[in-house]
Amino acid sequence: MKATIAVLPGDGIGPEVVGQATRLLDAIAEKYGHEFVFVEGMIGGIAIDETGDPLPAETVAICESADAILLGAVGGPKWSDPTATVQPERGLLGLRQHFGLFANLRPVKTYPALAEQAPLRAELLQDVDILFVRELVSGIYFGERQEQGEGDVSYDTMRYSREQVAQVANVAFRAAQGRRKILCSVDKANVLASMRLWRRTVVEVHKDYDDVALEHLLVDAATMHLLTRPNSFDVIVAGNMFGDILSDEASVLAGSLGMLPSASLRADRFGLYEPVHGTAPDIAGKGLANPIGMFLSAAMLLRYSLGLEAEATAIEAAVDAALDAGLRTADIARAGEEIASTAAFADAVISRV
Ligand code: IPM
Ligand code: MN
Repeated sequence: MKATIAVLPGDGIGPEVVGQATRLLDAIAEKYGHEFVFVEGMIGGIAIDETGDPLPAETVAICESADAILLGAVGGPKWSDPTATVQPERGLLGLRQHFGLFANLRPVKTYPALAEQAPLRAELLQDVDILFVRELVSGIYFGERQEQGEGDVSYDTMRYSREQVAQVANVAFRAAQGRRKILCSVDKANVLASMRLWRRTVVEVHKDYDDVALEHLLVDAATMHLLTRPNSFDVIVAGNMFGDILSDEASVLAGSLGMLPSASLRADRFGLYEPVHGTAPDIAGKGLANPIGMFLSAAMLLRYSLGLEAEATAIEAAVDAALDAGLRTADIARAGEEIASTAAFADAVISRV
C-alpha cells in the first residue's frame, strides 16, 4: 500500500527517536512491499523559534493531507519561562484539538526481561497488561481559562458534556470487549460535579456492554491501586488530566517512561502517534534516548491508521527480541550493564524486522 505520514520531530530527543522510527518504517515498507511517504513539519519550541507559532498553518496542512501523524515530543527549558505568552505544548494540544483526537490509547505492559530492576517487587509485576484510554480533547485542559494577567487570580475549568464522556467510554468498553472484559473508570465523583457526570455517563454507556465488568475508582485511590494490584487491571478510562497523571505513574510498571507508546484517535482511521515520554532535555543530542516508545507508537500507526496488523506485530516482536537479546538503553540498564545507544538499539530492532 501507499501511505503518507506527517512527521513532526519537535524538540529535545524528539528528532532522534523520530529519525529512527522513519528508518524502521522504511525497513517495514521494503520487507512488506509498501510505500511510505514522509512529509516533515515543525511543531513546538522549534516552530516558535522559526515562525513564532508552535503550530504553524503549514504543519496543519501537512497533517491534513496525510493518513497519519508521527510525532516526537515538544517543549524544553528554553521555552518554559512561566511569563512566556506561548508554550510549545500549545502546538501539541492544538493539533489534538484541531483533529478531534478524543481517545488517547496508552498501553502499558511489563517486560519479564526488566522485572528484576523494577522498583516494585517482581511478583507484583507479573502479567501486567493495562490499556489506558485517556480523554484527550476536553476536560480541564480545554475548559475556560483565566491567565493571571494584571490581576491576582487565575483559574482553569474542568468541564465535560455527556456526549464527550460517552464517546470515550464507548472506545474504552469496546477495547475491553476485545481484551479481558474488565473496565475501571477513574474519576473524582465525591468532590467534582464534572466527575459525577462522568460516572453517571459511564454507568449509562455500560448498559450497551453487559459482558464487560465495570469498576469505579476515585483518582486518589487509583494511584495506590495501580501500584498494589497492577495486574488486576485490564482497561482504565479516565479524563484528560487524571489520564495524563496515571499514565506517567504506570510507566514505572513498564520499567521506564521511554517504553510507552500512544495513539490518539477519533472515529475514523486517522490518528496521531507519539511516545508518552517528553523531550528529556538532559539527554537530548547524546544518543542516549530509548526509541522503544517511539517504535511501538509507529507499530500502533500501522495497526490503527493503515490496518497493517502483521507489520505492527513484526515491530513489537522485534522490540521484544532485542530486549531478550540483552540490549539496553541507558534508562533500562542495570548498573554495570553495557549501554546501547539510540542508534545501536534501533539497529538491533531493524535487523530483527
Ligand atoms: C502527554 C504530555 C502532554 C499532556 C503535554 C506535553 C502537553 O504530558 O502527552 O502526556 O499533558 O497531554
Ligand atoms: Mn503527560
